[in-house]
Amino acid sequence: MRIGIYGGTFNPPHLGHVHAAEAAGRALALDRLLIVPDNIPPHKALPEGSADNEQRLEMARLAFGAIPNAEVTDLEVRRAGKSFTVDTLRAIHAAEPEAELWLLMGSDMLACLHLWHEPEEIVRLAHIAAFVRGAAGEEEMFRRMLPLLRSNFGADVTQVPMEALAASSTEIRRRAAEGTAAELLPEPVWGYIQRMGLYGVKTDLTRLTPCQLRPVALSYLKPGRVAHVLGTEETAVRLARRLGADEKKARTAALLHDCTKKLSLPEQLALCEKYGAPPDALERQMPQLLHAKTGAHLARDVFAVDDEIYGAIRWHTTGREDMTCLEKVIYLADCIEPARRYPGVEELRRAAAEDLDKGLTLALEMTVRRMERLGEPIHENTRKALRFLKGQESSDGI
Ligand SMILES: [Fe+2]
Ligand SMILES: [Fe+2]
Repeated sequence: MRIGIYGGTFNPPHLGHVHAAEAAGRALALDRLLIVPDNIPPHKALPEGSADNEQRLEMARLAFGAIPNAEVTDLEVRRAGKSFTVDTLRAIHAAEPEAELWLLMGSDMLACLHLWHEPEEIVRLAHIAAFVRGAAGEEEMFRRMLPLLRSNFGADVTQVPMEALAASSTEIRRRAAEGTAAELLPEPVWGYIQRMGLYGVKTDLTRLTPCQLRPVALSYLKPGRVAHVLGTEETAVRLARRLGADEKKARTAALLHDCTKKLSLPEQLALCEKYGAPPDALERQMPQLLHAKTGAHLARDVFAVDDEIYGAIRWHTTGREDMTCLEKVIYLADCIEPARRYPGVEELRRAAAEDLDKGLTLALEMTVRRMERLGEPIHENTRKALRFLKGQESSDGI
């Protein structure tokens, strides 16, 4: 197995880092890629106003999460103290003694590899791969360093060509404060920076347009859920447009509907406590329902969403009696967005395309059937939603 190891301060991780990781994955046919945010870097102190260790780890997860086989490790942060690459390589080698390790680095790092802590041991434990970006002076550096590294340490450096970096992290921190860094960052990272107010960025989260909200909303998600939320947004807008509902509200509610989904049960319960919204009996039993409640409260607290959007998020897992149009739109969009794959989804899409209530009724019925099959309890609000729709159907027929 080939494991790539890409360390750095990642303060913040930017598109240059992501492109480099992708280029290395391809060029070296890596089976796994470990992203290793360092603790306190040995060669420089973190600038003031920087993200802390946890924030850099979280941004790295958001930035690299979409790359297959990439995973962010807190190895160096956990080890504390100065981060020496040689210690990291030893730890990875001990955990995976059979694996072929590939240490990835920028050409600036390669230029001083001979000055790192225990360079002989580094090159004994790992192959070295250096990114070639076509920067000024790079060719000359390689010409000078490659023979030196080979003769002094027996290092055979593999060069990995990649697109030139648009800017460094230092430059990006400066541009973030000026509000011109978005194009250099993965969308969720830019959202996270705004949400946490890093690097002097001040964003009023209560006055965002849906476009401005999108990166911030994506920063709450596990990378694997991004496609679902964007699909829900697209579907909700389509449904809203068809029904003459408020598109902007549909977009906002869809973007935020799963904003607390990735939280653990203790984190969910802490939010319930914070917002004075205790879980009901069934939510205690089935904590996967809780994110609708905590998400709605968080959306109101952090983004000042109105009652209509609050309701659409609040009822998107169970439904409820006499749902508003926006609540129906979000409930259905969540069930039928294009990334959804489950038996019956096509039938549901057809029903929703025909008539919103018909689609909603079928979606609720499918939920009830699924829960019955699994022997899981059915929330009272789901039953009420269904009874209400069926009652309406029969009275329409009279
Ligand atoms: Fe959800
Ligand atoms: Fe969802």
